[in-house]
Amino acid sequence: MNKQLNHLFQKSIKAKLKKLLYGGSFSKKSINQWSLKDFSYYEKKLITLSHFSDITPKYSDIIECGVGCGKGTNLLARISYSQNRSYYAFDTFSGFPDGVKEDNWFKSRDRQVFSCFSVAYIKNQLKEAEVSEEIINSINFREGLFSKTFKNYSGNPGFVFVDVDLYESYKDCLEFFYPKLVKNGVMLLDEYDTKYHLKKWPGAKIAIDEFAEKHKIEIMRLWTGATYIQKLS
Ligand SMILES: C[S@@+](CC[C@H](N)C(=O)[O-])C[C@H]1O[C@@H](n2cnc3c(N)ncnc32)[C@H](O)[C@@H]1O
Repeated sequence: MNKQLNHLFQKSIKAKLKKLLYGGSFSKKSINQWSLKDFSYYEKKLITLSHFSDITPKYSDIIECGVGCGKGTNLLARISYSQNRSYYAFDTFSGFPDGVKEDNWFKSRDRQVFSCFSVAYIKNQLKEAEVSEEIINSINFREGLFSKTFKNYSGNPGFVFVDVDLYESYKDCLEFFYPKLVKNGVMLLDEYDTKYHLKKWPGAKIAIDEFAEKHKIEIMRLWTGATYIQKLS
């Protein structure tokens, strides 16, 4: 497990043990009831991001489409820096665009919340999370709608984490990055076919399926449940 991920795990395991030991529940009974639970959704997400950072070509860029509150950025910025890779973070940094028919005409009730996630806010959050100035300064923030910002990118995408929820946004990411992916490069597609995603973000799967069918690409799945496509030649 890479150093950054290990650090985050140690923190969460320490917190759980502390609760067990000092929460007054450390007895034979509590130990008998202790069961090995599967990784949480968030832990699986971190493992997935770490896995694809490790298996994609080290000379290529790591890209995050959809930064939100910066949870993925917290890990990807550290990993990119330690692997000496360029890291790009694309978002409006001011909230979601509106959805279309495929998204059931989604209009963000969270727009007020997401509009708080400015570049300055994310930088500050990273600082709070003990990410060094050097790492924060190495992040290539790209602010604005994908339709405007992608065209100025001319790197070598190797691992593209797509977490953008909406039909048009998925289409933008797939159409722009897939043809540019380096050999063995991966696009990780955060929303696909879980019950929750199908209900909340129906447009994502439609865009992914349309793209995969058009270009005859196989949609693959990691043991963590994550869905991805890979450029094999
Ligand atoms: C669910 S959040 C991303 C969460 C983040 N990856 C994480 O790990 O915490 C989705 C983000 O995608 C961004 N987004 C969606 N469509 C976009 C578009 N067309 N252009 C720019 N940003 C977009 C939204 O602003 C929002 O911040």
